[in-house]
Amino acid sequence: MSHLFLAAVHPGHPLSDAGSRAAPTVRPALLADVVDGLARAHPLWRPLVHHDADRRTARRLIATEAYEVWLLGWTSGQGVDLHDHGGSHAAFRVVEGELTEIEWTPGGIVRHRLRVGATRRSPAGSVHDVVNQSPSAATSIHAYSPPLSSMTFYDPVDGQPVRREAVAPALPLFDAAAVGRLLHPAGDRSRGV
Ligand SMILES: [Fe+2]
Repeated sequence: MSHLFLAAVHPGHPLSDAGSRAAPTVRPALLADVVDGLARAHPLWRPLVHHDADRRTARRLIATEAYEVWLLGWTSGQGVDLHDHGGSHAAFRVVEGELTEIEWTPGGIVRHRLRVGATRRSPAGSVHDVVNQSPSAATSIHAYSPPLSSMTFYDPVDGQPVRREAVAPALPLFDAAAVGRLLHPAGDRSRGV
């Protein structure tokens, strides 16, 4: 199964010129706040929702040095395969339809049925799959910190790694500072408040 992010990337757009300096990291709880806040700001992302019966769709909404946000569209039956997020923390929220998270735990596979409004956190090192097992299309908002650079995929039977894929950055559709002002207008110092 092809990887969801690779079809949407535009290589050659560096996130920063920070060189070898380590990127700041946002904890999963704060990433959950980010996706929850954007979910409430639905006029921003709803016009960008797109579903394609041939593949999952992925649009990068925000990219900063510390984190990124993607809007994903899933038609019935579409999923990712069992994977991790490299060294990145993650959080995601279902904003339309229903998704199933298949979590790999030391005790075995755990399935989480996620309806609209459900938010899940995945600390770095977590292994899971996300699948639309419903008959209808679904949409979700995902945040990663630091921005994804690679993902490793695992055999769903024995949990052993089977392949690793690089994730190239894509041009973000939103300016992070402008979105921040829209979500938190009282903090916009340029407006004198
Ligand atoms: Fe994931």
